[in-house]
Amino acid sequence: MDARPNSPEARDVRYHMHAYTNARKHQETGPLVIEKGDGVYVEDIAGNRYIEAMAGLWSVAVGFSEKRLVEAATRQMSKLPYYHDFGSKAHSPLIDLAEKLVKMAPVPMSKAYFTNSGSEANDTAIKMIWYRSNALGQPARKKIISRKRGYHGVTIASASLTGLPNNHLSFDLPIANILHTSTPHHWRDAEPGESEEQFSARLADDLEKLVLAEGPETIAAFIGEPIMGAGGVVVPPAGYWEKIQAVLSKYDILLVADEVICGFGRTGEMFGSQTFGIKPDIMVLSKQISSSYLPISALIINDKVFEPIADESNRIGTFGHGFTGGGHPVAAAVALENIKLIEERDLVGNARKVGAHLQARLRKLASHPLVGEVRGVGLIAAVELVADKESKAPWGKPAALGALVNGLLQQNGVISRNMGDAIAFCPPLIITEAQVDALVDTFERSLDAALPQVRPQG
Ligand SMILES: Cc1ncc(COP(=O)(O)O)c(C=O)c1O
Repeated sequence: MDARPNSPEARDVRYHMHAYTNARKHQETGPLVIEKGDGVYVEDIAGNRYIEAMAGLWSVAVGFSEKRLVEAATRQMSKLPYYHDFGSKAHSPLIDLAEKLVKMAPVPMSKAYFTNSGSEANDTAIKMIWYRSNALGQPARKKIISRKRGYHGVTIASASLTGLPNNHLSFDLPIANILHTSTPHHWRDAEPGESEEQFSARLADDLEKLVLAEGPETIAAFIGEPIMGAGGVVVPPAGYWEKIQAVLSKYDILLVADEVICGFGRTGEMFGSQTFGIKPDIMVLSKQISSSYLPISALIINDKVFEPIADESNRIGTFGHGFTGGGHPVAAAVALENIKLIEERDLVGNARKVGAHLQARLRKLASHPLVGEVRGVGLIAAVELVADKESKAPWGKPAALGALVNGLLQQNGVISRNMGDAIAFCPPLIITEAQVDALVDTFERSLDAALPQVRPQG
């Protein structure tokens, strides 16, 4: 860190409180200040270049220097820099984007509703679900089932859906009516000898037991990410989504697919729901919808959700929910151009092809003494690090090895993220095989550099 009193680093420490950061430790370490981006690379203020192996926050699909998105924003900013969709107002980018999203959806959908972040979209999903239950004359049907280690955001209701301790501790969360069922992580949680299908059947059974214990008439919806992202890139085991959906259909429970990370090509299909045969009633979209060049998120809902809500809004006089910036015209124009680029350049195909290369290269590291599990699909992956392969024991405190290797990766020119001891990779969808090789070579070097610290005696 540049210690001069007026350096950007010093001013950051003085004036800026960071998201998802140990605020006290930050006062000693200071920030990594990123100045510019180009393709899959970003550069810090000292001129060091990094492969951005997380695409920012799982989001920059088209890379960091896409002029067409800049031009789309400039065009729309000059024409209509702001408008909204309250009280039956609309504007062309929003109408175009709504049509595009409804038509792109992999299952029959009816309407798109616009918000600004994944958290807002999930909060909105909860409010729509509650409103719908009241509309249907089922006021007891308010509980929503999420999963331990699921990630759905940080606002009060979305953080409650999130099944991670750090999002609840000292925040007095979760709120009432949010339940958490088991995590579909076969490597970590399966019984000895239990196959993936057997494990999935046990998890579907856990879900059914929870539904029956709570009373099926009180359960409104189930929410899940096709692949859990921030919970550690947990890829569902064989048969999981099929068996979970059978329970949901049996008790007439709505399904919300949180596609905030998986949507727009990440898994090698346009949506994670296609990769895993998920048939949602609500899809939540954000991040790669605009490559996060501007904040925008959306819910795509089917008629089962829309029709009762429309009736209830007619009874009350309005659907009393909306955000000033929801469906902002500049963000919507950027999202439309971004989706056009994903289609034109077949970035979904690239995620499939280059993703297969990434997965194969990472799986070759499975025999490394520090690697417990390699998992992933398309261009999303995680490598779980352990001190002992047999017992799966961590190195000292959980997350210590993840943080060590993540730090070494950064020193060596790759920005990744450790979720506990899982190192995640989720690069821009434009990444090439040669860039994947550079990324994985750096990872391998970083693992080797960590080994003497973990095993001082060799
Ligand atoms: C699956 C998922 N849902 C929701 C969110 C929350 O999105 P935001 O940070 O835009 O509120 C995230 C963010 O990482 C996410 O990964």
